[in-house]
Amino acid sequence: MVERQRSAIRGAVVFDALQAVLQARRGVVGPDRPLHVVDLGGGTGGLAVRIARLGHEVVVVDPSPDALASLESRAAESGVTDSVRGVLGDAATLLETVGERSADVVICHGVLEVVDEPAEALQAAAAVLVAHGCLSVLAAQRSAAVFARAIAGHLGDARAALTDPDGTWGSTDPVPRRFSRQQLTSLLGEAGLTVAETRGIRVFTDHISGALDDTEPGAADALLDLEAAVATDPDFMAIATQLHLLATRS
Ligand SMILES: C[S@@+](CC[C@H](N)C(=O)[O-])C[C@H]1O[C@@H](n2cnc3c(N)ncnc32)[C@H](O)[C@@H]1O
Repeated sequence: MVERQRSAIRGAVVFDALQAVLQARRGVVGPDRPLHVVDLGGGTGGLAVRIARLGHEVVVVDPSPDALASLESRAAESGVTDSVRGVLGDAATLLETVGERSADVVICHGVLEVVDEPAEALQAAAAVLVAHGCLSVLAAQRSAAVFARAIAGHLGDARAALTDPDGTWGSTDPVPRRFSRQQLTSLLGEAGLTVAETRGIRVFTDHISGALDDTEPGAADALLDLEAAVATDPDFMAIATQLHLLATRS
């Protein structure tokens, strides 16, 4: 299976869930104004541009000037320059950058793994949400990393990943920090948010060989269908590479 297909499968369940959130919020806000979406650590804007194409306004706050330059090009190519704004900043400056209670939806994908203080990043994200706004968090899951290393035969790495209480095991892991479902739920609660939905993302996609799928016609669609079918099933959640949580502010 080509990487492009894999990449689309990785993003599909999350994007579908986000679309549902945006539609629900649109129902509350009404048609008179676009939804205000903040993508914290939105990087090169792959997701921001897709959301802008749905008719919403997106601010990407990211500390990487290179990423923001790519975002600008991507937005121009997609014809959504007016709806996507890149701002140099980070989790620590988010509140000053976008303003308190200003965003209908805040996205924080792949960011808690890299920030210095995940709890502070989530508190900042919560502070910029309007009442009943939604925070979308996507973060790497520790148990899946243990599972992946074990079934690949890297038992020492699996053991290290399992026993490290912080979910960090340094040089053997390219991801600086991984989380348990409980940790993420607690962090969101401490930020004053209520978790409404949790999904397992990439339950199977990262654990199966791409070469195997190439021999099976329709494998990409079948995998996509399977991922969607198990995403909210708690029996499968522990082996999902990432967890996607949607949480609301009261
Ligand atoms: C793994 S990438 C994720 C990019 C994008 N959100 C995605 O899901 O594809 C991590 C992003 O977080 C940004 N980042 C790093 N430190 C950050 C911080 N303290 N606050 C906000 N974003 C940060 C990086 O520049 C990078 O764009």
